[in-house]
Amino acid sequence: MTTPSETLSPTTKTAPRGAHLTLSRVTLGRPAAPVLEGLDLDVAPGEILTVVGPSGCGKSTLLRTLAGLLPALHGAVEQDGAPITAPRAERALVFQDDALLPWRTVRANVELPLAIRGSSRTDRRRKAEQWLDRVGLADRASHLPYRISGGQRQRVQLARALAAEPRAVLMDEPFGALDAQTRAGMQQLLVDVLRGTGATVVFVTHDVDEAIFLGDRVALLGTGRVLEVPRPRDREAHNDPATVALRRDALESLGTK
Ligand SMILES: Nc1ncnc2c1ncn2[C@@H]1O[C@H](COP(=O)(O)OP(=O)(O)OP(=O)(O)O)[C@@H](O)[C@H]1O
Ligand SMILES: [Mg+2]
Repeated sequence: MTTPSETLSPTTKTAPRGAHLTLSRVTLGRPAAPVLEGLDLDVAPGEILTVVGPSGCGKSTLLRTLAGLLPALHGAVEQDGAPITAPRAERALVFQDDALLPWRTVRANVELPLAIRGSSRTDRRRKAEQWLDRVGLADRASHLPYRISGGQRQRVQLARALAAEPRAVLMDEPFGALDAQTRAGMQQLLVDVLRGTGATVVFVTHDVDEAIFLGDRVALLGTGRVLEVPRPRDREAHNDPATVALRRDALESLGTK
């Protein structure tokens, strides 16, 4: 049952504001294997920050820490000025591996975080179907995950992450296993579905072009630099001198140039 005051509540009626994520002088990882020592990072509300860095440098560790799954060894990790100490539904995680529950239908997978949040049955069904429609999978709602393709499963993960109206979306190489064409389609879909959500996004990728296309800024964890993207989400910018320079810096930071 929804009371009139709940109906009018700003948290249920307006698009959720993006989270402000900050790391100050942090060292992450496990005590026996610290990574990213002394890292500072400030992700503005609604910003898309992409993250690239050499394998093993701590990208997944960074996301797990922001999700609240792994405490920092040193320093402060905060959302809107309050310490992040545990996972919260308002911070959604999307992995490279398909993290769908194989025994639940596509629709039931998307409904899961809504159920955890206590949404009513009709509300979660309506939201799940809306999101499946937005990612182009309305006709797959009653399928089990094994009956759809890898790219479609990633779209279900995206729908599941966004259906719960998270204030932050933490994505760990979500398109890494997809072929180039499906991947480009997923990048555009991500841009389209994020529009208007206001969510803050931290997106880890090993693909420098993906990082430059999607990000407002790119964090190069290999060198600790964070660089502005000259023309975010504009494919036409690919050969601009400023984009070419950014690509060179990013590849250099990976040690691949
Ligand atoms: N469960 C774990 N226990 C102990 N050490 C771990 C664990 N997971 C990761 N590490 C170590 O922490 C470091 C950072 O790992 P992380 O997974 O964050 O790297 P990454 O940047 O995501 O690498 P990749 O690009 O290969 O995904 C690595 O040296 C890794 O060996
Ligand atoms: Mg990783």
